[in-house]
Formats: sequence, C-alpha cells, structure tokens
Amino acid sequence: MKKHLTHPIFQIVSKIITKNQQEAYVIGGFVRDLILQRESKDIDIVVIGSGINLAKSVAKQIGNTKVSVFKNFGTAMLQHDGSEIEFVGARKESYQRHSRKPIVENGSLSDDQNRRDFTINALAISLHADNYGELLDPFDGLTDLKNKIIRTPLAPDTTFSDDPLRMMRAIRFACQLNFKIEEKSLDAIKKNKNRLKIVSQERIITELNKIMLTDKPSVGFKLLDKTELLDIFFPELTKLKGVDTIQGRSHKDNFLHTLQVVDNISQKTTDLWLRWAALLHDIGKARTKKFQEDRWTFHGHEVVGAKMVTRIFKRLKLPLNEKMKYVEKLVLLHLRPIPLVEDIVTNSALRKLLFDAGNEIDDLMILCEADITSQNDQKVQRYINNFKIVRQKLVEVEEKDRIRNFQPPIDGAEIMQLFGLSPSRTVGLLKNAIKDAILEGIIQNSYDDAFTFLLLEAKKYQLQHQK
Ligand code: CTP
Repeated sequence: MKKHLTHPIFQIVSKIITKNQQEAYVIGGFVRDLILQRESKDIDIVVIGSGINLAKSVAKQIGNTKVSVFKNFGTAMLQHDGSEIEFVGARKESYQRHSRKPIVENGSLSDDQNRRDFTINALAISLHADNYGELLDPFDGLTDLKNKIIRTPLAPDTTFSDDPLRMMRAIRFACQLNFKIEEKSLDAIKKNKNRLKIVSQERIITELNKIMLTDKPSVGFKLLDKTELLDIFFPELTKLKGVDTIQGRSHKDNFLHTLQVVDNISQKTTDLWLRWAALLHDIGKARTKKFQEDRWTFHGHEVVGAKMVTRIFKRLKLPLNEKMKYVEKLVLLHLRPIPLVEDIVTNSALRKLLFDAGNEIDDLMILCEADITSQNDQKVQRYINNFKIVRQKLVEVEEKDRIRNFQPPIDGAEIMQLFGLSPSRTVGLLKNAIKDAILEGIIQNSYDDAFTFLLLEAKKYQLQHQK
C-alpha cells in the first residue's frame, strides 16, 4: 500500500513514531476509500498510546499548526495539506467519533479493530518504518471490499449493541457504495431494531441525509423498511405503503411511488432539500385517501402534506428555517403545474403560478417531472414533452411580465398617501386588487396602468385622490 500513502502527514507521523518506538496506523474510512479509489478527506490515525501527545508532536514538527484537543474522547485533530487528521489512542471499547462516553481503557491495535463497525472499516495500514505500508486486515475486509459486502467484525448482535446507530450506517454504506449487507448482519438489524430508540435523533438524521444524497436513495429506504427501522423514526413514510382494492379498483403504492420520485429527482439534482421535497411530496396521501364515486381520491393531500412538514422536520431534527419553508412550499404547490399542460392555458394561470412559486419555479418543475412514474414509457414521454411546453410558456410569460418576485408597482404606503388613509383593511384590499389585475392580465405590470386602475377601484370605496 506504500505508494498510495501520498499525503505528507504519513511520512511525518512515521518518522516520529519510529523514533519513539511506537506503533501507529492509518485506519478506518480512509483505508477503505483508498482501496475503493474513492475520494476521502479525513484521515484517522490510531496510535498505541496517546493520540493527543502524538498530535502535539506532529504539529510541532509541521510548525504553525493548531491542534484541537478533545480530552474527554482522548482524541486530537489538526489540519494539514487540505485534510483533517484525527489522532486517537487504540481502545478496547467501541469506537465512535465524538461519542459522549469518555474513554477509559487503552488497547492494542487488534482490540481497536475488534470494536469497529464493519470489516471494511477495520482495515489498518502500518506507519512504522519497519513495516510501513503493510495492510493489517484481521477480518478479511479486503475480500469484503472486493465482493461488496457489509459485515460486522464480531457477532452482529455485539457490534450493533455497542452502538445501535451502526444499523443505520450499515444501510447507508450499502446504499452509498452499492454493497450488500451480509445476511446474518441484516437479520440482526431487524432483531435489534428497537435499540435504535436509544440513539440521538441528530445522529440518525445525519445518516438519513447521507442516504438521501446517494445516487439511488430508494435502495437505502427499502432496506430501512425491510429491517423495520423506518417505522421507528419515520412512521409517516411507512403509512404510505400498500395497495387497497375496492370494487376491482386499486391505487398505486404511494411508498414505492415516492421512492421512485426521489430516485428520479436524484438524477437531476444533488440539492438535499429538493430531494426532501420529493420524499415528502405525497406524505399527506395516507390521511386523505378515500374511495368515492368508484375511484380512489387523495383530495387536498398537498395541503395536508405541507402542514405535516413542520412536525416532521421538528421531530427528525431537521433545520426549522428557510429550508423547511422551501420544502413546505414545494409540497403545497406540487400539483399546480399539472393542469397547465392542457392546450388552452390562460396566461393568467401561468402568471399566478409564477407569482406563487417565485424563485422556486424551476425546482417545482423539476419536482413535477420527477413525479411522473408511469410504467408506460410512451405516457411518460408524453408528459415530459408536455412539461417542456409548460416550461416554455412560463419563460415567455416571465420575459413579458416579470412576475417572478414581482412587487405590485404601487405599495401600501403609497396607497395610504394617495387617499389620505391610515393603515386599514381597505389598503390591503386595494393592494391585492392591483396585484390580481396584473396577474389576471387585466392591466400591464406598469406604474401608469396600476395608477389608473387604482383610481377606478378606489371609487368603489368612495375614496378621493388627495392631489
Ligand atoms: N466507526 C465505528 N462505529 C461508528 C462510527 C465509526 O466503528 N458508529 C469507526 C469506523 O471504523 C469508521 C471510523 O470509525 O471507519 C470513522 O468513522 P466516520 O468518520 O464516522 O465514518 P467513515 O467510515 O470515515 O465514513 P464517512 O466519512 O463516509 O462517514
């Protein structure tokens, strides 16, 4: 492995530990990614002894480098040549970066490897001059890397109960690396699923977002469902599962449909929040499902779904900020472009959508296209072509009328001044009347048109223009 250790830190560490007659290894994700030829920024170095002391010696050698010490965890971190490098003493108990549990025991390399999550994450490369570059692979992780297998080093029950988040990590790695979880480990996840309840939501959501950002998130969600972990932290999603049939009429499985939409959108965007909008776009369907007049309906599911977004974000510990508002908005509007594919669409309908969607119009169109999941390829193609036409029409209306982010040319303050009004409902009504007249195409989006229209409108309220 020698020739692959190109980062300058390895030689620096090697010199120090060889001189001090110590052992140190590069370990974990960095080694895994090196063998898989994936890019990896963080480097973990495990030393038999004190990670903090080694980090300090390394920093001294490099010069002008700050060491962040996490005394409770027995780790220290520094930045060098574009990488974050963490130093840790080998330990006997479960390894988790920044775990709250303070470390108490020092261990050997094999103790340390035993307590790691997967065979592919337990590989170590020696940095001592005597065997510099030698791979230490007690669990045959190299073969698992070749065969694309996720497997725990110890009995799965032991590894998972050391840190139940590893059940999510197994699924995340399977999805991210396109690996299979070995059967015994997969069975153990299902068996231990309830242990996930002791894991903090912050750690769970970090893993879930990593799944969301893979090329094909459905793989991860199907595994989360199969192992029944999904039901524990995201029951709204599993409620979308299943197909009901009444009088020979069935609806589609909204869980599988949702996952397909997420996969579709993932081909178009790496934006986490647009992907979240895809995941939640039909979340209101379980609550609104009805069989009426011989067919299945989900009336108002976009409104119910949008309302569910805040609660879901809160519980999952997703950010309660403009990202949440963005997801909410897309869920609420996700059906709006559909009727616009009709041949005869008024410009006023297009303008209203542009106004309501504002800057999110392009993302909304991406979501709508991803939402087409028919099995019939011809149908899919027809819809996609139709949406192309809608996009074109939106561009034309936008160029002509500049509706996106538009503010009516006369605002409330000016209305008050023109008619000597104080803040009141009438001011709001007049302001909205101007906005609607522009969106409906009754007047142009210009000051003069708005002014003339306002004078006429004000007459309805017997208002006098204060010249
Ligand atoms: N690890 C572990 N159990 C955990 C978390 C981490 O055993 N619950 C070990 C693994 O050996 C892992 C290493 O700590 O390789 C570093 O963890 P982390 O940085 O979280 O993950 P990586 O494997 O580096 O992968 P990624 O950077 O993709 O998250």
